[in-house]
Amino acid sequence: MITHRPRRNRKNQIIRDLVQENTIGVNDLIYPLFLIEGKNKKTAINSMPRINRWSSDLLLKEIESCMKLGLKTFALFPNISDKLKDKAASESWNKKGLYLRTLKEIKKKFPEVVIMTDVAMDPYSSDGHDGLVKNGKILNDETLEILARMTLAQAEAGADIIGPSDMMDGRAGYLRDALDENDFTDVSIMSYTAKYASAFYGPFRDALDSAPKFGDKKTYQMNPANSKEALLEAELDFSEGADFLMVKPALSYLDIIKSLNDNFTLPIAAYNVSGEYAMVKAAAAKGWIDGKKVRDEILISIKRAGASVILSYFAKEWALDNKK
Ligand code: PBG
Repeated sequence: MITHRPRRNRKNQIIRDLVQENTIGVNDLIYPLFLIEGKNKKTAINSMPRINRWSSDLLLKEIESCMKLGLKTFALFPNISDKLKDKAASESWNKKGLYLRTLKEIKKKFPEVVIMTDVAMDPYSSDGHDGLVKNGKILNDETLEILARMTLAQAEAGADIIGPSDMMDGRAGYLRDALDENDFTDVSIMSYTAKYASAFYGPFRDALDSAPKFGDKKTYQMNPANSKEALLEAELDFSEGADFLMVKPALSYLDIIKSLNDNFTLPIAAYNVSGEYAMVKAAAAKGWIDGKKVRDEILISIKRAGASVILSYFAKEWALDNKK
C-alpha cells in the first residue's frame, strides 16, 4: 500500500496552483538599464540580445514603457566615453555629466519610480577597476572617499537606493555615515554583499566598455569557492547599516542566497547577471532550449532560494509575457 502519493497534489493546474509555494511578480523585479551620451540613440549590445544602451531622451521613453508593464524599480549604469575616464573616476561626481543629469531628469519626470544607482569607479576609471590604483594595487580607504563623493552626488540628484558594487571593505558604513551627515537619512543602501569574481560579468563589461585594463578583480571580489566568507561580508554589511544584502551572480550562487536568507533578517537581493542572461539567449537562439521556459525557471529558482528582490535583464520581457 502506498499511503503517501505526492502526485495527487500535481494532478491538475488548479491544484498545482493551490500548492505552489513561490511566485514572481513585477513587484519583485529590478530592471537594469544602460545609458549612453547623445540624442535619439539606441545601440545594441551583441552579447545581450534585446538589451540596449539608451541616450537619456530614449531612456525616459523606455522607463515609461516599463512602467506601463508594472515595473517600478530600475538600476542605472552609464557607458562613459573613454576621454572622460581618469584614475580618480572624477566624472562620477560631475553634476553636468551624463549620469547625474539623467538621474535628475528621470526623477523629475517620474518622481514615483525608484532608481537604484551604481556606486563603483569602474565605468569612469581609466584603469577599469572598482578602486583607486597605485603601483598596480587597489587602494581600499582612498577608494572609500571617492565612493562617498559619488554617493552624495547621486543622492543629491535623486537616487532612492544606492548600490555599492565595488567590494571595498567598510564601504556600507562609510557611505551610510556620509549620507546621514548630509541629511540623506532616507536614501537606502543595497549592498553588493557577496559579489564574486565571476566570468559571468563579461557581457556587462562589453556594454559599458569597463573591463579592467590590467589584472583581474580577485583582490576585492570574492572567490567562487567560498561560502563562509559570504556570511562574514553579510555580518559586516548588516552591522554597518545596509538595507538589503545582495548576492551576485545569482544562478551559480543559489546556496549563498539561501544561506544569507536563513541567517539574516534583512531582505536578500540577487543579481541575475549579464552572462546568465546571455547563455539563455544564445542557447534559445540555436533552438537548443525553450528560452522563455528556462527564463521562468531561473527566476523562480532565485526566488525559491530566498531572494525577495531580483535584478534581471529578463524583467521587461517577463513583465510583457505576464501582463495582466
Ligand atoms: C561593476 C559592476 C559589474 C556588474 C555590475 N556592477 C561588473 C564587474 O564587477 O566587473 C555586473 C553586472 C552584470 O554582469 O550583469 N561595478
